[in-house]
Amino acid sequence: MAFPENFITELVERSDITEVVSGYVRLSKKSGSNLFGLCPFHSEKTPSFSVSPDKQIYHCFGCGKGGGVISFIMEIENLSFPEAVEFLARRANMPLPEQTDSAESRKRERMLALNKEAARFFREQLVSPGGEPGREYLARRRIGNKAATNFGLGFAPASWDSLETAMREKGFSDFELLDAGLVRRGKNGGFYDTFRNRLMFPVIDVRGNVIGFSGRILGDDEPKYMNSPETLVFNKSRNLFAMNLAKKSKSGYLILAEGNIDVVSLHQAGFDSAVASLGTSLTPEQARLISRYTNQVVIAYDNDGAGLKASQRAIGILEKLDLRVKVLRMSGAKDPDEFIQNKGPEAFRKLLEDAENQIDYRLKTVTDKYDLSVDEQKVDFLKEATELVARLPGAVERQVYAMRVAALAQVKEEPVLDEVERRRKRMLNSARQAMEREQSRPERQLQPADRELRYTDPGSAAAEEGLVRLLYLDPALGKTEGLPPPEDFSSPALGRIYGAIRGKIDRGEAVSTATLTEQLSLSEMSLLVELLQKPELLSRGEKTLREYIDKMREQKELASGRQDLRALANKLRERKGYEG
Ligand code: GTP
Ligand code: MN
Repeated sequence: MAFPENFITELVERSDITEVVSGYVRLSKKSGSNLFGLCPFHSEKTPSFSVSPDKQIYHCFGCGKGGGVISFIMEIENLSFPEAVEFLARRANMPLPEQTDSAESRKRERMLALNKEAARFFREQLVSPGGEPGREYLARRRIGNKAATNFGLGFAPASWDSLETAMREKGFSDFELLDAGLVRRGKNGGFYDTFRNRLMFPVIDVRGNVIGFSGRILGDDEPKYMNSPETLVFNKSRNLFAMNLAKKSKSGYLILAEGNIDVVSLHQAGFDSAVASLGTSLTPEQARLISRYTNQVVIAYDNDGAGLKASQRAIGILEKLDLRVKVLRMSGAKDPDEFIQNKGPEAFRKLLEDAENQIDYRLKTVTDKYDLSVDEQKVDFLKEATELVARLPGAVERQVYAMRVAALAQVKEEPVLDEVERRRKRMLNSARQAMEREQSRPERQLQPADRELRYTDPGSAAAEEGLVRLLYLDPALGKTEGLPPPEDFSSPALGRIYGAIRGKIDRGEAVSTATLTEQLSLSEMSLLVELLQKPELLSRGEKTLREYIDKMREQKELASGRQDLRALANKLRERKGYEG
């Protein structure tokens, strides 16, 4: 463990979860002792994110995320465990203890060093005689030297082992290269370079670390792009291509594009705040990263069906964070790169200026539908327009646009304002009801929110959850005879949580969300907090514990019985095959 346990315990005591969360989420008191707010981790209109000051945990009933104060900071600030601890320590004015480097942080550092060397290698290849194909491609895409240098673009030669050889000379092992996604394992057990004959884009995080690569093929072959896999240092959903450059922009807004080439081309044309997500659609984590640097985003996705759909999704995610969003409407070009190449930077600047505010744009569409000099149509207009305005998250915004609607229809402001707020209430109520219905569906309560952790045997998993819950709430039960080993759990995630808790108990350490955070993944923490929400009768302690263990055994026998039957059936079928 990198930090001593008492340090973590004190840190958590000095980092009240309500205070910390309040820095990001507006919390209000509802019923009981819990506080509620709009979940910062998924898009929602009614609060399902709760904070328990008593238990010092947070939990979202909507998306299932949950944990203690350290998990919250990891999740929201996009930090690793040690980074989150450091973040909170600074906040609480606590000096960091002398650190014994954890194996993991050493591994991260090595991987970052390797990535940096690899980026340097690709870069050298691009300017060397062998880099001709890469240089030719850049020329064809009209990407100049300055932009190429600015982005650290490189070239991966069409060889199976040039990167591998070069990195081994620098002292990195094949396994380190494999972990970093830079080589792959062949059928014969050997290693070969992942990126071959490609234009290389290093992906650099906001701290300046090379965390991964994106490689574009030099032509029309498939796959067009190859990206580094998820690694210890590369998480696609939490990073944006070129954010390291865009964060320094003075433009006051950020341009969100789809392709790496679009981004390079935009920067080259003077739009230095362009970024792209790394081949996935925009995630809430990426939106949060954006919101740290700007409050205005212009979406400049590709001019096709997919781009339009992706824009709609991105708008929802960005507006959720109170970012002002505009959407660029390009015509006569498939993407920003083509637009700039064909019509020049000035034309693009004009597009940016004309980009419409979402609500203005929608309001205009509604206004155009009706003839406001006809009373009946005016009524229909007011209905549709107030419905639209009611969906705006900000109260001030609703007021401003309600007044605009009143002016358009030439009616008094008051009744329009009232109508908007009435509609908003109705909307929130029905959303809440829908959520409650969803919550009460039994299968929803049974399964973890994270699909990857789905239970294969819900019957056994219910008992496994119970066992985990009991041990967590009453660690003294950890001394009970006959506790099953973690391998006996049908759910590997529950098995890991159980193993971590038992480890703490055996070592005589405190069992809390804070002390478990380092050993568990964020989804496992969420699962733990989720299962802690369900009631447990502590008074019957050991008796209930036995019941859970029995239930697990029973389910296991059932499952293996089913397997035996299946095997028997197969055998019978085979025999029939022989005879018939
Ligand atoms: P061109 O304009 O065609 O040169 O490419 P682009 O850089 O504009 O990229 P495009 O708009 O086609 O794709 C957007 C992003 O999706 C790229 O930057 C990649 O991150 C990702 N992407 C595109 N094609 C692939 C693919 O074949 N595989 C993977 N993994 N990602 C891809
Ligand atoms: Mn493109």
